[in-house]
Amino acid sequence: MSTIDLQARIPNNVNLADNRQLQRALEHWQPAFLNWWREMGPSDFNAKQVYLRTAIGVDAAGWASYGYTPMPDYRWGIFLADREENRKIGFGDHMGQDVWQDVPGEYRSTFRRLIVTQGDTEPASVEQQRLLGLTAPSLYDLRNLFQVNVEEGRHLWAMVYLLHAYFGRDGREEAEELLTRHSGDADKPRILGTFNEPMDNWLSFFMFTYFTDRDGKFQLKSLAESAFDPLARTCRFMLTEEAHHMFVGETGVGRVVKRTVEVMKELDTDDVATLRKAGVIDLPTVQKFMSFWFTSSLDLFGSESSSNAANYFSNGIKGRPDEAKFADHVEAGTEMQIDVSDGKGGVRTDTIAMRNGMNEVTRLEYVKDCNVGVTRWNMAVKRAGVDFQLALPSSRFRRSVGAWAGQHTNPQGIPITAAEFELNKGQWLPTPDDINFVQSLMHRVTEPGKMAAWIAPPDRGINSNPVEYEYVKL
Ligand SMILES: [Fe+2]
Ligand SMILES: [Fe+2]
Repeated sequence: MSTIDLQARIPNNVNLADNRQLQRALEHWQPAFLNWWREMGPSDFNAKQVYLRTAIGVDAAGWASYGYTPMPDYRWGIFLADREENRKIGFGDHMGQDVWQDVPGEYRSTFRRLIVTQGDTEPASVEQQRLLGLTAPSLYDLRNLFQVNVEEGRHLWAMVYLLHAYFGRDGREEAEELLTRHSGDADKPRILGTFNEPMDNWLSFFMFTYFTDRDGKFQLKSLAESAFDPLARTCRFMLTEEAHHMFVGETGVGRVVKRTVEVMKELDTDDVATLRKAGVIDLPTVQKFMSFWFTSSLDLFGSESSSNAANYFSNGIKGRPDEAKFADHVEAGTEMQIDVSDGKGGVRTDTIAMRNGMNEVTRLEYVKDCNVGVTRWNMAVKRAGVDFQLALPSSRFRRSVGAWAGQHTNPQGIPITAAEFELNKGQWLPTPDDINFVQSLMHRVTEPGKMAAWIAPPDRGINSNPVEYEYVKL
């Protein structure tokens, strides 16, 4: 098992000290990263002590230690899951061959693009969430926000390590660029659409960590299958951290729903205006935010039919999430069906090569996973005796990428006209009014254990501490 050198300027378990040139290059990038953190990371809280977990090992028992630290002193480092001896390529045309410890020349630009695209999302989300600390509904939530932020920063480190270690000068240039693109920037935006969406309230934050971090989980799972072993090992360890981000999302939305149904019972009403006046987020608004972030995240998987996706799979570059659970790991000549718009207001079923449909295969797994939380939220609504059901819209709804891009459908996925969409979109997606209302609830609560009125307290605190623990010392 590898050990982590925590005393090093850059904590790592990749024996950085043995490669002086690489170490120097990364030590040169480090101050640029810290500058970025100070300028683009969480505003106003850099001097505060935050109760954070830090990776100190990559094995199950010892990978996280908890303690107070100011965020700029967080020990961002490079941690790869342990190397699996004799690991073989698990899918595609190179199936059964030894995995690669270096990048084959013919796949170099493909790998670089994939790593840069993944890497770009990590700091992007930190930028999107930059101001949320100012309106945190509790110290517990404030701490969770910062935990997510420092770990996204570490995920950036994970990708920058690969760029520096395996892509020479091009890789170093890409690493610089990762700090110069910014979320929502008109001239130099982040690469993917969702990561340029403004995030100015906590309902969006919870939806983002539930739906968009879950896209991250599926991308990482696919890359964790890669024949390029250092990438696979990096992603495997990132998944350990990622789980907490989705926990924050699932419990966050769950607590919003719980609080709303409590007040619905108390006041015996489902009237939106009455509930808003009482200071909670009505369930139709929760549904609209969910529909927005879910559909935005669906686009991140790419086109339903994609020759790039086929190329990644054939060449062992990127597999399917949990590749081992599929029966056929080569998929030579196999086919699948996808629904596309027929361009005349109807739906047509196309048969495509399975290899071309890998984005869609992954997206279907993702949708299944998203539904687990929705079912839990609905159970809480039902238990409270409230008659309402949250539901994920069809994956044809409000798409900007792929077979349904620019095609209007209702949330059930039935094609409709542009005029019908315009007429109804206020019932399906957040209106400026809905956003303003949610925004109006965003006030900072700083007393340990206290919660804003629109959200229920969590069931338990962090690392066996009580909910009223002082998670951030303000
Ligand atoms: Fe991440
Ligand atoms: Fe994440």
